[in-house]
This record gives sequence, structure tokens and C-alpha cells, in this order.
Amino acid sequence: MAKVKTTFFCQSCGAQYAKWQGQCNSCKAWNTIVEEVIQTPEKNDWKTPSSSAVKQSSKPLLINEIDASKEARLDTFDEEFNRVLGGGIVPGSLTLLGGEPGIGKSTLLLQVALKLPYKTLYVSGEESQKQIKMRAERINPNNSNCYILTETKTQNIFKQIEALQPDIVIVDSIQTLHSDYIESSSGSISQIKECTTELIKFAKETSTPVVLIGHITKDGHIAGPKILEHMVDTVLQFEGDRNHVFRILRANKNRFGSTNELGIYEMQGSGLREVSNPSEILISKKDEELSGNAVAATLEGMRPLMIEVQALVSTAVYGTPQRSATGFNAKRLNMLLAVLEKRAGFRLGAKDVFLNITGGITVDDPAIDLAVVAAILSSNEDESLAKDFCFAAEVGLSGEIRPVQRVEQRIQEAEKLGFSTIFVSKYNKITLKPKAIKIQLISKIEDLVDLIV
Ligand code: TYD
Ligand code: MG
Repeated sequence: MAKVKTTFFCQSCGAQYAKWQGQCNSCKAWNTIVEEVIQTPEKNDWKTPSSSAVKQSSKPLLINEIDASKEARLDTFDEEFNRVLGGGIVPGSLTLLGGEPGIGKSTLLLQVALKLPYKTLYVSGEESQKQIKMRAERINPNNSNCYILTETKTQNIFKQIEALQPDIVIVDSIQTLHSDYIESSSGSISQIKECTTELIKFAKETSTPVVLIGHITKDGHIAGPKILEHMVDTVLQFEGDRNHVFRILRANKNRFGSTNELGIYEMQGSGLREVSNPSEILISKKDEELSGNAVAATLEGMRPLMIEVQALVSTAVYGTPQRSATGFNAKRLNMLLAVLEKRAGFRLGAKDVFLNITGGITVDDPAIDLAVVAAILSSNEDESLAKDFCFAAEVGLSGEIRPVQRVEQRIQEAEKLGFSTIFVSKYNKITLKPKAIKIQLISKIEDLVDLIV
């Protein structure tokens, strides 16, 4: 019997070693190297070796001669999903969707599958056909073009694909797949690599798009070798706070479009609903004005988004004042408090400060600074801001109000939602002349203090 060939892989980064060692040289993680059985590469074909097609070797072509019209995209009939992909699914592409357990990856792709008018094969290694049917009934019961297969062995999946000839294949999840050519267990590095290679070959040779679900590790990376992300064409990430209803879909890598686009969904009892105007939901519509609330005009990807910042400033009960921030960087909060203390003379050193971005989303756009400062000032003085004020500027260490990118887009969004005044930096170049909104230009933090308290 031939000697079984094995090699050692780092489970964290996928680096390969000839022998075992305690620490991985490339990612420096300890005890992550495991031995796995590998197989000779000539067998890894998505078809059985005998039926493999004889491929023509490709010739170099002039770039102008290449026909790109075949790259027409498949419309997914989900506006947010299309937007993130850059206009639809490209035939023959491999898309990987990652996200925390329970965030809604299976729901999203099943929902997309149910909307597609093409022949769709949804392969699940995680749930039974009955379970998927139950889920589908919650989402959208009337689609006859979606086939469900519960199978984990890639060779069997390809057999079914050859019989069914689907236009698109969805696999939930890559970690449950298993190829006969590799002996190690499902979810191991060499299995994931092998199954992905087979799927890529299948996708490229038949021009059938494949969408894969991938689990992520506890530090947020897709479980499996890093090379997995290099192999596929598009890496999408589905994220959000499980206790809140909003889910954000973004592209971390996209060979066929921009990675700036973002899709927003709301998880409901009947599946995920596309949110085409997120600002309207993120801003609470209340009648009375409350102190400590301010609205920021931020950008998520390329989309303007109005969000509400809430601050609570109170006298510290214990010796050391507490500072805590939800959805905002706590270090940045401390910095803004120091600027307020030093440049505007507010004694916040003995106060507890709590900050919250409503809706459970996390914002790292620096343009939210001014709204954070305004909310803190408002809570500190216990005076509410006019509820049709909003803010879009960064605050610098010397208390200067700094310009932000795409300010005109933010102003337009604020105007559309009925805000009366937007506070922006004096140093922003604005050629826009909006009718319904006043643009209040400020240059120092003291200006803000004069205007709002
Ligand atoms: P799921 O898609 O299975 O998550 P993942 O595949 O990422 O692990 O489901 C996520 C959660 O969504 C689940 O806990 C229940 C909830 N959910 C709803 O709130 N409404 C629905 O219509 C469905 C189908 C699920
Ligand atoms: Mg799932």
C-alpha cells in the first residue's frame, strides 16, 4: 500500500510545514499546527477523472479583442445584495459569505434563492430539507425554481449538479463539505482547500456562479486557511448586533466591483427585509426634545446615514469617573472629553460619561465627532438641542473643527430628511446651495458652545 502523505498546517493562518512545531512562524500562534493527510493534486477535479473534459489551452488576446459582454450579471432581485456585489452575480464567480453564527447567513441566501427566477440549487450540510422548508415558509412560500439538497460529499453534489444543471449553486457551508480525495475530517484546512478548489473548477468550467457560506472564528476571520479568501472572487461579510434588528452586508473583497458599497437589512419574523432608507429608522421620532441627544450625518460605505448619538453626563458616584461608549471608540471618547475640558473649559473630569449610538450599529466615521461633543454638552448642561439640528465634522486635538469627506452628500441627506440646520467645518469646500437647510459653518469648538448652549 502506498505510504499516506501527510503535512502539517497551521489552523489559524494555513501555513504549511514539513514537520510539527509548537509555534507557527508566520502568524506566531501557539499550538495551532496539526497534521493532515493530503492527496496528489491530479485527482482534484470536480468531475470524475474519466469524464473530465479536454480543455483548450488559452492563447494571449489583445485586450480590445476580448469579449466582455458574456460577463452580464445575474440579477439577484435583492437590491441590497446586488448593490454590494456591484450589480449582480457574475457567471462563473465564487462568492464567500462570512458571519457570526445566528446572524442570518442561511436566511439571507435562502431568501435570495427563493427570489431568483433561475434554476437554483441550495445545498445544505447543516440543516435537513424539512428544516429548510420550514424556514422557507416563513420567508416566501411561493417559488418552484429552487431545489434543496442536503449533502456534504462534494462528489455526490457534483453528480446531482450534472443531473439538474442549475443556473446557480448555493452551499451552506464550506466547512461542512467533504471530498473523498482527502482523508482528513470536514472543516480541516486541507478539506476546505480541496472542496473550494473543486468548486472553483466547476464554477469556471461551467460558468455557473457559486455562493458559499463560511463560518468565522472568534476573532472574526473566516474559519479555514487565509488562502480561501484569495481563492474566491468575492468575500462578503454579514454583521450586526444579534440583539438588534439591523444587519449590514459588506464586501471585504470584490473582483467585480467596489468594496465601498453596503447593504442594510432588518431581521423580521418573516426573514430579512431590505432597508432602502436606513436613516428614517435609525432616528427616533419623538415629540419632546430630550437633553443629550444629537444627530450625526455619517457615511456607511458610500451611503449617507443619519444616526442618533446619546450621551449621559452625571456626577461620578465613585472616586474614579466611569466612561463607557457603545458603538463608538472609547479612546476617541476620552480624547474628545479632554478637548472639551482643555479648549472649552468644561469640567468633566469628575463626571461619569456614557455614550451610545442607537440602533446597535458601530460607527468609525470621524465625522460623528461633532455630534458626540454636542450630545455631551447638551447632557452636561441639561439642555436639549433643537431636534432638527444635525452635525457632520471631525474634532481635532486643539479644538478645531475639521472638514470631512463627501460633505455635500451628507447635507443632501439631512435636507431630504427635513433637518433645518447642519453644522459643518468652515474648511469644507461647499458649492451646494440647498434651499431647505441652513449650513452653519464653524471653525472651533467654542463656536459650537456659543451656538448650542
Ligand atoms: P440563520 O440564518 O440560521 O443564521 P446563520 O446561518 O448565520 O447561523 O438564522 C439567524 C437567526 O435569525 C435565527 O436565530 C432566527 C432568526 N430569524 C428571524 O428572526 N426571522 C426569520 O424569518 C428567520 C428565518 C430567522
Ligand atoms: Mg446557517
